Amino acid sequence: MSSDTGTTAQADSSANDDADQTLISIRDLDAWYGDFQALHGLSLEIPKNKVTAFIGPSGCGKSTLLKWINRMNDLVPGATARGRLSLIHDDGETNLLHPGLDVVSMRRQIGIVFQKPNPFPKSIYDNVAFGPRLHMRTTKAELDELVEWALKKAAVWDEVKDRLHAPAMGLSGGQQQRLCIARAIAVGPEILLMDEPCSALDPGSTLAIEDLIFELRSQYTIVIVTHNMQQASRCSDKTAFFFEGKLVESGDTELIFTNPQEKRTDDYVRGRFG
Ligand SMILES: Nc1ncnc2c1ncn2[C@@H]1O[C@H](COP(=O)(O)OP(=O)(O)OP(=O)(O)O)[C@@H](O)[C@H]1O
Ligand SMILES: [Mg+2]
Repeated sequence: MSSDTGTTAQADSSANDDADQTLISIRDLDAWYGDFQALHGLSLEIPKNKVTAFIGPSGCGKSTLLKWINRMNDLVPGATARGRLSLIHDDGETNLLHPGLDVVSMRRQIGIVFQKPNPFPKSIYDNVAFGPRLHMRTTKAELDELVEWALKKAAVWDEVKDRLHAPAMGLSGGQQQRLCIARAIAVGPEILLMDEPCSALDPGSTLAIEDLIFELRSQYTIVIVTHNMQQASRCSDKTAFFFEGKLVESGDTELIFTNPQEKRTDDYVRGRFG
């Protein structure tokens, strides 16, 4: 099995690969929490303007990788990483693991939405306006327009438009999650990382968020962690399957779900374990 030998299967056809432009390049990435190694020699290219799904059983390292991409692990005592994790632009490469990286401005480019919604203890409006106020110069009218746009995109506008200045904490869990998605997209990030964003949502909101993901991918690069195989196959272009801190296989979603190279991937996507 590839994850035992450390090699990684690429199910992509090279014809499709040629069209992909790598935005995030990961090479031989190891990560630890204290003595515990959570990621082992991971290599993966995340293509620009595509949706990449991370799948795999609980504890396989999906969130760990996502959190290293925008350095949320800086806040975790004992969390360390080694290897290459870079943002690739035409004018050069940014080492996302560099200790001197300007994390605040990087997070404007790389937004993250967590499984558990984490609104700020502010009003609905101020949650969405927080990033634009920090990073952009906007007039009051422009800001109003931006807040409305983001809340509409995140499929929560109709439910909050009459109480924009009420505390965000007063919203239901699912509404808070959609508010956090609105907050993340309001600054126009280049990359949106979503860690099980729909696990607290009802089916209607889940479909609205999947529509949003589908629509946003022409402008944004999206990485979504999901345990929902239908969701991964519905809304991603690429899928990466992780197992015990290693990447088993990655490639076009259709191939991963219909004709994976590794038996373990096949078993997982068919619901035989995990
Ligand atoms: N803050 C932490 N301190 C110590 N160990 C951690 C920490 N966070 C995660 N781990 C461990 O690292 C491994 C990978 O965890 P991670 O959260 O990345 O898994 P995951 O694939 O996102 O799982 P899930 O699907 O349950 O969210 C697990 O063994 C987990 O127990
Ligand atoms: Mg996780």
